[in-house]
Amino acid sequence: MTEKEVTEKTIEFVKSELQHAEGGHDWWHIERVWNNTRVIAQVEPVNHFIAELGALLHDIADYKFTGGDESIGVIKARLFLNELSVEQDVIDHVEKIITNISFKGGNFTQNFFSLELAVVQDADRLDALGAIGIARAFNYGGFKGRELFNPSVKPVIGMTVEQYKNSHAPTINHFYEKLLLLKDRMNTETGRKMALQRHLFMEHYLDEFFSEWNG
Ligand code: ADP
Ligand code: NI
Repeated sequence: MTEKEVTEKTIEFVKSELQHAEGGHDWWHIERVWNNTRVIAQVEPVNHFIAELGALLHDIADYKFTGGDESIGVIKARLFLNELSVEQDVIDHVEKIITNISFKGGNFTQNFFSLELAVVQDADRLDALGAIGIARAFNYGGFKGRELFNPSVKPVIGMTVEQYKNSHAPTINHFYEKLLLLKDRMNTETGRKMALQRHLFMEHYLDEFFSEWNG
């Protein structure tokens, strides 16, 4: 099978896996991350096949929706790519991208680094920012039944992975706990530039939110 055919089969597989996903982690999130990956990969010397497979498969079984089991996505991706007879080193690399991409409160110790991971991680982070980032955050908060904002619940910066996973804080807190921190954690120059514009838009949005909240 050619790389193009593998990519096409992967798209079909991911669409079917994510049929019932929450609106912020559905196929359209994957498609945006895949597009961002291709934009950033134009200027970074990466293996495009690996970066694109990483982008397409990075969220097929997110711990937020699988009751905490983070290995499910990795196992599914491996089985799927094995069936298509993709080379073992490609599968290993894609697996490392899926395992190491996530933010998880910022305290997760990433123990693998590659330019392909760096690019896909930037692409995923970009989708957490800006107008789309705002939409995704409130959609996720609604899905989890969270308050929009509660002045008596203060944001907690630098939570442990466990605290981050178990937090029930209002959605606005997520901006301070994660979204506004991302622009300084971008890996690539292209990613950083795109992140800055989206960051400024979120700051503007928050100013407006609080000015309306405070009457
Ligand atoms: P990662 O998948 O990189 O670990 P997260 O799990 O923190 O990142 O979340 C991915 C996206 O899901 C966020 O960018 C946001 O849109 C949404 N999300 C996750 N946790 C929250 C939360 N507590 N409040 C609002 N949105 C959230
Ligand atoms: Ni994602």
